[in-house]
Amino acid sequence: MANKGIFINKIQEKTRINGIFLVENKKILETKTGKHYLNLTLFDSTGSLNAKVWDRADEFDKIFEKDDYIFVDAAAEKYESSIQLNIKNIEKIPDDQINLDDFMPVTPFDRKELKKQLFDFIDKVKNNSFFRGLLEAIFHDEKMLKNYCDCPASTKGHHHCYIGGLLEHSMSICRLIDSLRDVYRHLDSDLLFTGAILHDIGKIRSYNFSKASFSTTDEGRLLGHIPIGTQVVQEYAKKLDNFDEKSFFNLQHLILSHHGTKEMNAVVLPMMEEAFLLHLMDYLDSTIAYLYKLKGGLKGNERMWTDYQKGYERYFFLNPVINFPTTDFQDNNGNDGQG
Ligand SMILES: [Fe+2]
Ligand SMILES: [Fe+2]
Repeated sequence: MANKGIFINKIQEKTRINGIFLVENKKILETKTGKHYLNLTLFDSTGSLNAKVWDRADEFDKIFEKDDYIFVDAAAEKYESSIQLNIKNIEKIPDDQINLDDFMPVTPFDRKELKKQLFDFIDKVKNNSFFRGLLEAIFHDEKMLKNYCDCPASTKGHHHCYIGGLLEHSMSICRLIDSLRDVYRHLDSDLLFTGAILHDIGKIRSYNFSKASFSTTDEGRLLGHIPIGTQVVQEYAKKLDNFDEKSFFNLQHLILSHHGTKEMNAVVLPMMEEAFLLHLMDYLDSTIAYLYKLKGGLKGNERMWTDYQKGYERYFFLNPVINFPTTDFQDNNGNDGQG
């Protein structure tokens, strides 16, 4: 195995660095004087950063491609508010020399515990046998279960962008809904739990997460995770002996409306109390996870302003010190907006 060298989150400005990174993007460009240079986005399990190759760009361009692993010898420099690498030398590293864990961002929570929670929440669906049968059919399908447990909740830059992100996000929403059951006792908790578990299931076909640089599949780009989610549910639901059309439409409505507004790609607006609650919990969890991710990028001990966040049309004023809330989870580190 090749030695990973420095991780991206440890790179300081004005230092010389050596390390292996995954090439997420690669472009050969021209300066104003017509000289070629390489513009790269490099990636590891701790984040991504921009890198430039100003000299010997044509020579290096030939030895590696996007999605290759490269060893770089570079100077870390500050450009605007970010660290950028000025690369002096590059060596391609074969895939079999790589420890994938160094390049796969993974949920900071215990995935076994999250998986146990999934089945505990399925157990809470007691009154609606169609929903219960549907959840069991989906999650007793081993391939489906593995994909659900591995899938990130976003590809680049948004919330829960790591292996296990979909499971973590969905279980957070289930726990939020569980905590509100006592307040809104008249709501249909079977529909809520089933909707919470399945609202983003379309992401398992929308995202490609077999390689560390997550990407959106053709199906995901062309259809979006919401319509795909309704298809996945339909495929399993139609095979059930106790198919219940009324419950099926209610669940499909929760999936189709969970983004809340047409601007946020909801296919329909939430028109049921349960749909409205699921949308709000989804918005809450994806936003808090995104803010947590932003906090991780701040340096210092006092509350400070983030860069302008276009998706939220505001600056955030955050405390960089991360005190992860006490839960019954294993606490490790790091996290990531409506999902
Ligand atoms: Fe979503
Ligand atoms: Fe979501």
